[in-house]
Amino acid sequence: MTAAPGDAPPLDRPRGPVRGFTDIPGWFYWLDYLLFRALLRSQAASPPGVLVEIGAYLGKSAVVIGEHVRPGEELVVVDLFGRTDLLPGSAVADANRAEVDGSYRTLTRQTFEQNYRALHPQLPTVVEGLSETVVDHVAPGTARFVHVDASHLFDVVRADIARTRELLRPGGVVVLDDWRSEHTPGVAAAVWEAVLTGGLVPVALTPHKFYGVYDDPAPARRVVEDLVAGDADLRSATQSIAGHEVLRLRRLGAKPAPAGPRLDDRDLDRLADRVAERVGRRLDARPAPAPAPALRGRAGRALRALRRRSPF
Ligand SMILES: C[S@@+](CC[C@H](N)C(=O)[O-])C[C@H]1O[C@@H](n2cnc3c(N)ncnc32)[C@H](O)[C@@H]1O
Repeated sequence: MTAAPGDAPPLDRPRGPVRGFTDIPGWFYWLDYLLFRALLRSQAASPPGVLVEIGAYLGKSAVVIGEHVRPGEELVVVDLFGRTDLLPGSAVADANRAEVDGSYRTLTRQTFEQNYRALHPQLPTVVEGLSETVVDHVAPGTARFVHVDASHLFDVVRADIARTRELLRPGGVVVLDDWRSEHTPGVAAAVWEAVLTGGLVPVALTPHKFYGVYDDPAPARRVVEDLVAGDADLRSATQSIAGHEVLRLRRLGAKPAPAGPRLDDRDLDRLADRVAERVGRRLDARPAPAPAPALRGRAGRALRALRRRSPF
């Protein structure tokens, strides 16, 4: 996810010690944390592969992926880390430069590495460069998980998605950020183009991320379904999109307080009587307090009834 125009600028460093991914500023939310964890855990018995993140910012999502790197595996993280001088002179690169200057101006590789080291003994392979350089560091058909979260401009995302197809091995999962935000229409266009013409199979959608594969979606879908079945806070609905059954997920927010029984005026009067009686028994008479601001409606009536009965 990126900052929408007009948003407050993101923090460029954690506010305090980094004890978990939530201490790192960025755009990675709990529902996606649950999905990353479930999908990566489901690959735990598979042969070693490469994990990839294109667009890391301060490491919020990278540290989560990093929890699942097994012996003999590598996490490759690619980011400009502020090096806009690496962008070539072209209209697309100029737009990308404006995007980076607007949203990630103060990012440094050093802060990313500090954050990562706070939670992991070893750094990943850190590539300071354009997203397209990922192919120089990951062999075709070796990646088991790729998170694409770099530029959110159509031409760049489109090329990143095409490269991801080459990098993923059978059963590999790709996650695409910001597939539906109002300020990232280019991502939406690139994502659905890949679904309609590029072999990308959608599996699940969260408010912020698209989860897909390039082959049989059944194993990944089962992982997501099991996650939802085992977590009372998650909800899913299935939609058929271009012949694919796609799980749309959401996480319940703070639950509203359960509605209590409705009280009528007589109930309120009775309650007021009982409160006045109890309070009256316990307190000595006191000087009248300063008049309170008038309350209207049911609360006002209850307060006035209470006052009529109050011994103080
Ligand atoms: C939205 S942030 C990544 C957020 C991160 N994944 C998280 O969860 O907090 C996007 C990152 O992509 C990087 N970026 C933008 N355009 C890029 C490009 N063309 N190549 C490589 N990195 C790029 C930016 O420097 C920025 O750190």
